[in-house]
Amino acid sequence: MSTSQPSPFINIAQAPPDPILGLTEAFIADTNPKKVNLGVGVYQDSNGKVPLLKVVREAETRWLAKEDTKSYLPIDGVPAFNKQVQVLLLGENSPVNAEGRAVTVEALGGTGALKIGADFLKRFFPEAAVYISDPSWENHRALFEAAGFKVEVYPYYDAATHGLKFDEMLAGLKTIPAGSIVVLHACCHNPTGVDLSTSQWTQIVDLFQSANLIAFLDFAYQGFGDGVQEDAAAVRAFAAAGIPCLIANSFSKSLSLYRERVGALTLLTSGTEETKRVLSQLKRVIRTNYSSPASHGGQVAATVLNDAELLTQWDEELTEMRERIKRMRGLLVSSLKDYGVSQDFSFIKNQRGMFSYSGLPLEAVRKLRSEYGIYIVDSGRICVAALNEKNIGYVCESIAKVI
Ligand code: LMR
Repeated sequence: MSTSQPSPFINIAQAPPDPILGLTEAFIADTNPKKVNLGVGVYQDSNGKVPLLKVVREAETRWLAKEDTKSYLPIDGVPAFNKQVQVLLLGENSPVNAEGRAVTVEALGGTGALKIGADFLKRFFPEAAVYISDPSWENHRALFEAAGFKVEVYPYYDAATHGLKFDEMLAGLKTIPAGSIVVLHACCHNPTGVDLSTSQWTQIVDLFQSANLIAFLDFAYQGFGDGVQEDAAAVRAFAAAGIPCLIANSFSKSLSLYRERVGALTLLTSGTEETKRVLSQLKRVIRTNYSSPASHGGQVAATVLNDAELLTQWDEELTEMRERIKRMRGLLVSSLKDYGVSQDFSFIKNQRGMFSYSGLPLEAVRKLRSEYGIYIVDSGRICVAALNEKNIGYVCESIAKVI
């Protein structure tokens, strides 16, 4: 195309590929017939398929029979969805819900919820720094930096023990300047799979009760640790202690609704008046970003969350996913041994959620990718939820060859 002026975009540099979704792009382009994508956090069934849950199909059928307009949704999304998200997060008989101390807006997945929260916080706490765990989900730093924050880390993972550096974490959190924002993984820590125990959470909650810090709980994997109710323990501990905080949750994984982009941002406040004002500001953030959410995914989730029979069915399907991942953890450990790996990988069985922080060095990760078509995040994070009886032998055999 010929133009009189040079393109204004001519000097724009190539952006690096996304550390997680960029792997999926490379995986799709890979012609190796044995390729396995253990990068992105997506659950696959024993046939390697990302399931369309039966409960979702049923909810879609019911919703489509009922839907009678394509007019805009409210800025903050489907009311019946937002209300049930609060129940899912805080429990059936939560006083916080009963007293109107929670406000929820629908969001475009968990990432969208984090971004609404980040933009909201930037408006009212422009000088605050954001602290994330070391390590954290790759997109946390990028997302909060894109919202204009300086991002720092607090101690978390202990590579030597494959566990948590809890004392250092607690000590580190105590040194964070007042007014800072602290991102915590409410369950199924991404990328390590290493979670806090109940008593450790109690100590964290105690700290937030006296420290002048803003907690932002990332809760993308509810149901993938021990169960929907069990996994909400940390969120409910903050709520029970009356600590105002932000919670980003997602239905991408738990309802296998990834591409529908369904999640929510919930803020716990100190009272109904505050709730009202906070909602008005969250709506401004949404309106100036994308105006209002798309309808389908939220309506499907709302249909499930508002029906006792569908809730039971969801729990069964979620339990099946969770149990399958646990089986794959065990199989990964024993198969590595069977293929002659002498290094002890038994810690993988103690990790929770979709991921295993394998400890594989970068060189091995790169070799697995280029020579064997096995895609793992550079950090060594493996999506255990993408392993199955058919691909695990090849994966373990290949790992044995590169370490
Ligand atoms: C992941 O960590 O792989 C998932 O949360 C998907 C994503 O958006 O990165």
